[in-house]
Order: sequence, then C-alpha cells, then structure tokens
Amino acid sequence: MKKILVTGGLGFIGSHTVVELQNKGFEVVIIDNLSNTTIDVLGQITEITGTKPDFHQIDLRIKNDVKDFFKNNHVDGIIHFAAYKAVGESMGEPLEYYENNFNSLIYLLQEMRDRKLDNFIFSSSCTVYGQADKLPITEEAPVKAAESVYGNTKQVGEEIIKDTTKVTDLKAIALRYFNPTGAHESAKIGELPIGVPQNLIPFVVQTAAGIRKELSVFGSDYPTSDGTAVRDYIHVVDLAKAHIVALKRLIDNNNKSQFEVFNLGTGKGNSVLEVIKTFEKVTGKKVNYKLVDRREGDITAAYADTNFANKVLGWKAGLTLDDALLSAWKWQETL
Ligand code: WQD
Repeated sequence: MKKILVTGGLGFIGSHTVVELQNKGFEVVIIDNLSNTTIDVLGQITEITGTKPDFHQIDLRIKNDVKDFFKNNHVDGIIHFAAYKAVGESMGEPLEYYENNFNSLIYLLQEMRDRKLDNFIFSSSCTVYGQADKLPITEEAPVKAAESVYGNTKQVGEEIIKDTTKVTDLKAIALRYFNPTGAHESAKIGELPIGVPQNLIPFVVQTAAGIRKELSVFGSDYPTSDGTAVRDYIHVVDLAKAHIVALKRLIDNNNKSQFEVFNLGTGKGNSVLEVIKTFEKVTGKKVNYKLVDRREGDITAAYADTNFANKVLGWKAGLTLDDALLSAWKWQETL
C-alpha cells in the first residue's frame, strides 16, 4: 500500500483529499501545525472513512522537525497544501507569508532531494494568471505580475519546484485551483469558519444562517452580464479527486515532463448575483445583501479552460454549483 504525506491535511482541501486518498486505498500520514484548523478534523475524517490517518503536529518552518519526520517516515509521494492563503491578510503580513510558504516548501524539497523521493503535488492557484487577457483560461495563459503577496508565493513556489526538477529526479505537478467551495456529502468536514470569512460562499452561508447581518457584494459595475464579478466555483470533492488522479500519474510515470501544470475548474463562470440566486434556490434560504464598491485587487472574471485537465490529466469536474452550495449549507447547519 503506497504511503502518502499530506501537509495541511487537516485543512479544507487537505481533509477532503485525505478522504479520497483513503477511499482509493492509500495509506495517509498528515502533517499539520493546526494554525488554521482544529484537531477535531482528524476524528471527522476517521468517521467518514473508518481509518484514522497517522498525524504529526509539525510546523514545516522548523527545519530540524522536518528532517526528523523524514528520518522516521518513508513516503511514496507528497501532496503539499500547508500554506497561508488569505489574499487580503497576505498584503499586511508579507514576511510571515514568505517565511511560511517558502520555507515549508524548501525544507520539504530538500528532504525529497536528499532521500530521492520523487512524487510531489503542489497546491497552486488561478491567482497566478491575474486578470487573464483571454477567457476561458488555459495553462498557456501568461503568468502575470502577482497582485497579492499570497499570489506571489504561489508563482514563486512553482518556480522553486520547476528549478528543483532540473537538477534532481523530482517529478512534480502544480494544480492551479479556481475557486474551491462546498463540503463533503456527509457534512462531517467542510470549510472551517475562523473569523470573518474573506471568501464569498462562506459569507453567503453565514449570512443565511444569521451569523452575518448582510453580505456586501463587492462591485456591481463590472463588464459582466449583471455587473458583478465572475468566478469558476469548483466543488472541493471534485478538486480532491483531481489530486489522486495527478498523484497516480506521477507514481505510474505517465507524466510527460518533470514539471506539469493543470488548471482545475468546472469551465463555467458564475457571477456573485448568480451564486446568491442559486444558493437561495437550492436551500430555500434568503440572503440579505447590498451592492457596494469593488474590493481592491479583485479581477472581473476568471474561469478555466478544462481541456488539458480533461484530456491529458484524465479528470473532469462532475459536481455543479448547485451541489456545492447545498453541501456548504448542510455543513453550516452542523456548526
Ligand atoms: C469571489 C468573488 C469577490 C466576498 C480567492 C483567492 C484565490 C483562491 C480563491 C486560494 C469576488 C466577491 C467576496 C464578499 C463579495 N484562494 N465577494 N463579497 O478573490 O476570487 O479568490 O479565493 O487558492 O487564490 O484569490 O475568491 O471568494 O474572495 O471572491 O462580493 O464578502 O466574490 O469580490 O468577485 P477570489 P472570493
């Protein structure tokens, strides 16, 4: 049985990926420093799959702790989620973001190099494209100057990996997520609300639940069908499954080069107002909202060209925005 290290495995996308790995017969070991999640998620994963993943509370910024882990644990692949990921927060705390997101990545890659480990999946983001000139966005779209420190950590992170593959046997795939959302059908894991949600759908869900008074819709003067910004909302379970497909590609040596990039989206764009209307339709709940000014740094529209992921990676999103919004609401009802 192949053993896979999932860093950030108790986080939102990490926990859903651990479930899918276990469903596919992989042994999973999780590293998480619990800075953006709780240990309860370990039990919730266990409740879903019946198998408790091995867990180590390690901060990947501490080089010796990373070294000690690999001294005692052999793994056949790594899926690296652990990183700070709040766009707005990153602008106020650049040094913390660069230290955490880069040092964690570098220490992992140094261990992989020294121990000749070769299968590495990197959690990247469509943020690297900024406002793409052409929609839908393909993997050939130019990576633009990052508009946030967070986005820069993803762009430079990919460069660090690519440069490492040139001088080692490392095989790596960067998965550029569009907008992850939704929750597992069991409603035992989902997006953990820590503080005021930055992202749209957690805010919509908390407004419907009465936790937030009103949703502010950032911008109604965009050049889109209804003036509000468009994004490609991908169900987190579809996203998790893509990681297993990518990992198998590397394990089976089906990769065409040592560094590959895939966009992970549904290929469909939805505006903020469409998300609100769809949420109200699938849940029967009302969402109070008001139209306000644009949020600084936001782009007008982004949605994925899914051909490369569908044809080469062999993965296609199967769940819809309706599924994602209903699952997010069912998860919220358990909190
Ligand atoms: C979506 C739309 C907002 C909140 C970010 C990261 C990206 C990825 C996904 C990690 C935008 C609008 C939002 C609100 C609103 N994260 N909105 N009211 O900014 O597209 O992407 O999350 O990988 O890297 O950049 O997601 O959910 O914040 O915003 O109107 O209260 O909803 O303006 O148009 P975003 P988001």
